[in-house]
Amino acid sequence: LMTKKRPSVVYLHCAECTGCTEGLLRAYEPYFDEIIMNTISLDYCETVMAAAGDAAHAALEKALINPEGYICVIEGGIPTRHGGEYGKVGGETMFQLCARVASKAMATIAMGSCACFGGVQAAAPNPSGAKGVNEALKAVGVNAINIAGCPPNPMNFVGTVVHLLTKGMPELDTWNRPLLFFGDTVHDHCPRQKHFNKGEFAPGFGSPEAKKGWCLYQLGCKGPYTYNNCPTALFNQVNWPVKAGAPCIGCSEPNFWDKYSPFFHP
Ligand code: SF4
Ligand code: SF4
Ligand code: F3S
Repeated sequence: LMTKKRPSVVYLHCAECTGCTEGLLRAYEPYFDEIIMNTISLDYCETVMAAAGDAAHAALEKALINPEGYICVIEGGIPTRHGGEYGKVGGETMFQLCARVASKAMATIAMGSCACFGGVQAAAPNPSGAKGVNEALKAVGVNAINIAGCPPNPMNFVGTVVHLLTKGMPELDTWNRPLLFFGDTVHDHCPRQKHFNKGEFAPGFGSPEAKKGWCLYQLGCKGPYTYNNCPTALFNQVNWPVKAGAPCIGCSEPNFWDKYSPFFHP
């Protein structure tokens, strides 16, 4: 992988909080700087590129005519109401920009639940008509790999990029999430599951039972319905929501903001 010319990546930001990029900056083994120095050529990314304004725009246009092509990554939902006027970059709507870039990409990755399924801005009443990449861009032939999560574990993104570059398209589930990372539920590997099986449910946040590792299901945990690898992948190498005492809110599932709220049952 490292001896080949580094493939170009164009990383677009739409309607979102940038938390997915923040997560990605904390990738390890490999670290983010190793990824962009040794593995890929990050030719456009508004959050981490040094260029701004016209120079940034020029870098984007240059990447788009690279004869060797590029991988497109989109973070954020795509506003579609009123011609997409609720989100613009460089005078172009996010919808137009994403359609233009993703429709010509070698592969497209939707990074985070906003890009996969619309995210918080698509929650009712969804004033901007925000949609996930595949829903918004299906008509122009885009079929993105969904790296779901709010934010996703950076390992799931990096692993997908490496898979694409070395073995091609990973096997996907019905929501276009790579089975490698989203094949099992959070509940399947949760260390609190032994208490779930014995009917031992913590009665409150911070209760002695919660601290002893009892199950958080009655406090609102959506782990049994949520496909993600948080218990085994961990965030920042150390922790994940349920281990920290917070129920899983189902952040890698479609429309989780509407479907799973209220998140907590204190
Ligand atoms: Fe932020 Fe979550 Fe959307 Fe990522 S998926 S941009 S963390 S709101
Ligand atoms: Fe399942 Fe959640 Fe209980 Fe863990 S805390 S065993 S994921 S219901
Ligand atoms: Fe999200 Fe649940 Fe993991 S809330 S981060 S899928 S534990």
